[in-house]
Amino acid sequence: MRSHILGTGSYVPKQVLTNADLEQLVDTSDSWIVERTGIRERRKVAPGEACSDLGIRAAQQALAAANIQSADVDLIIVATCTGDSPLPSTASLIQYRLGASRAAAFDISAACCGFVYALSAADAFIRSGQYRHVLVIASEVMSSVTDWTDRNTCVLFGDGAGAVVVGRTEEEDRGLLSVHLHADGRLSDLICVPGGGSSFPASESMLAERLQYVKMRGNETFKIAVKTMEEAVREALAPHNLTMDDIDYLVPHQANIRILKAVGQRLGLSMEKVVLNLDRFGNTSAASIPLALDEAVRAGQIRPGSLIVLAAFGAGLTWASGVVRW
Ligand code: COA
Repeated sequence: MRSHILGTGSYVPKQVLTNADLEQLVDTSDSWIVERTGIRERRKVAPGEACSDLGIRAAQQALAAANIQSADVDLIIVATCTGDSPLPSTASLIQYRLGASRAAAFDISAACCGFVYALSAADAFIRSGQYRHVLVIASEVMSSVTDWTDRNTCVLFGDGAGAVVVGRTEEEDRGLLSVHLHADGRLSDLICVPGGGSSFPASESMLAERLQYVKMRGNETFKIAVKTMEEAVREALAPHNLTMDDIDYLVPHQANIRILKAVGQRLGLSMEKVVLNLDRFGNTSAASIPLALDEAVRAGQIRPGSLIVLAAFGAGLTWASGVVRW
């Protein structure tokens, strides 16, 4: 028995923030952002719209696509670094609002790798026989931790959510074939939000130092991202004796088009096989893979039988990959 993705869903808030809008906030230009990142626009929540609001809409779509009732969900895992509040979990809030009263619920914090980490947890619960239907949601309100005065970071991130329903399959050659997860905590200060937790709790001085916002050493992150993403894809294929030619689509974490082009080049993988949406949504952290996955499924690119590789890297540092025969 294997786990398999039974349905996908996604949601992005309505407000579009273009590069021209950002030119009004910081010293930047549309041409710099497009050339250096590939991003043209991103979405931003309305006032009062929170992580659970985006996540629940993506979840409802995924449940409908999987033809599963919320009452039949055994577990909800939410991957996020921008949950509604530190306590309780965003998964609990979504469990109540979905009416998934039987479901256990918890959040996973693995930054941009959160979706693949959560998928791996879902896979383990299903293969162990403990649960039948796991709802995996990745939802991020990156605008809530974005410093709109810092041009190095504010052009990169966006808000959005994606979700999948993970269930069982008895079919030999379908489903989630494997997942690999990695972390290197030595590099934890490369991308971080220093304040708001127990090391720098909310206080006037914490706010004055702007510690509630994302800090990133972009250039160093870039180089490590290229290396780890390449390794992650190779590691994903190796146990199955699959080659680059076997991949129908790589669905990568969407951080920077230059990272993805460099990875494609190193792997000898045509960019036509790389699912991209960062031009429209920017880096939505954990949400970026399920958002891209859902779009590709709905567009009919990913079909039953397609071989899909997921690959992510992010704060922690974390990196992760997975192989799915759709
Ligand atoms: N507009 C205009 N200029 C900008 C800018 C912006 N939005 N952001 C940075 N710059 C400037 C810098 O200040 C620097 O100027 P200087 O040479 O006068 O000091 C110059 O552009 C080059 O900066 P650098 O950081 O070397 O640029 P880069 O080519 O590495 O691109 C990133 C910056 C952030 C786009 C790139 O490093 C990146 O994408 N890194 C990975 C980030 C990532 O993936 N993070 C998420 C992980 S999940």
